[in-house]
Amino acid sequence: MSEETIKTYVAQVPSNIAFIKYWGKRDESQQWPSGDSLSMTLDTACTITTARLHDGAKDLLELNGRLLWPNEPRSEKPLAHIERLRGLLGYKARLELTSRNTFPSDCGIASSASGLGALTLAAIAAWTAAANLEELEGLGFSRVRLASLARLGSGSACRSFHAGFVTWHSGVSPAEQTLETVATPPDFELADVIVVLSTEPKSVSSTTAHRAAWASPLFRPRLAGLAAKLTATRAALARGALDELGPLIETETIEMHAVIMTGEPPVRFLGEPTSQLLTWVRERRAAGEFPAYFTVDAGPNVHLICLQKDAAAVAALVKESFSDYTVLIDRQGQGPKLHVESRRPEALRKAAKDV
Ligand code: PMV
Repeated sequence: MSEETIKTYVAQVPSNIAFIKYWGKRDESQQWPSGDSLSMTLDTACTITTARLHDGAKDLLELNGRLLWPNEPRSEKPLAHIERLRGLLGYKARLELTSRNTFPSDCGIASSASGLGALTLAAIAAWTAAANLEELEGLGFSRVRLASLARLGSGSACRSFHAGFVTWHSGVSPAEQTLETVATPPDFELADVIVVLSTEPKSVSSTTAHRAAWASPLFRPRLAGLAAKLTATRAALARGALDELGPLIETETIEMHAVIMTGEPPVRFLGEPTSQLLTWVRERRAAGEFPAYFTVDAGPNVHLICLQKDAAAVAALVKESFSDYTVLIDRQGQGPKLHVESRRPEALRKAAKDV
């Protein structure tokens, strides 16, 4: 293949923030979760991944501007996922990949959802030479199929393949997992004001922490109550009632972290600075000054869910009291995008020469 004819496939997949958390797996090998979950697909917090075929013996991966060597811990998960997809789908070609997040990675802003989602989409586009999502669908890769393939890399990635509010039903077997979106009133538009307390990568991976959940005495009671919680959350969204949704997602956050803290080994993602911010949110809201509710994933950073019209004011109030923290404003988004370019990403040209 001549250099000029090799195309670069560019996938953009958003992150998502869970309102009902995916926590614990029934079958790790098939990424079968222990319960249903529900998230909001984000808009600007996303991963942009490029993929192009190459003749070398190995896949090359450049992450956030730096070429990763195959034995580096950070390259393990993405490269294993590419190998697994190659085996499942029967493609042979090696790939040059670049991946860039529009937000800090590995600290509880669900970079694994967008990262593994974008990797899946870009790789399959390069292998099939599909220039957009419609062409991919014509080749048998519907969003539903792409989502299940992405799920094998990171469970939460599957929810990023749909717009808006997405329920991931665990189903009665690994093969019967489904995704379903919740329709909301047209004027109900949510924002996610992301408060970045720390960009340090988390000390325990979510894979390890998922495993630890089963040993928590709180885990089985949590699973028993999930269906009712999901029904209430979906109903609040369908009604467009933030005052009903907010308390549900805050209780859910505390419940997930209680499971995490009482697992074996116990893990603590909610450190002192995060707890202080959560208390502050509740106090300000009780004082009638703060129309936002918190949720926290597997990391120290806090997502404040509010109406889009209130997002700038919420962000400003946080900045006023916590000037050291970075505050990003995101909102509900539309899901993945894909396009093709004939240019080769410059950084990869250099990386290929060095190997
Ligand atoms: O997809 P994973 O293995 O990174 O797990 C994600 C878990 C949470 O982000 C904490 C919750 C969720 O549902 O996204």
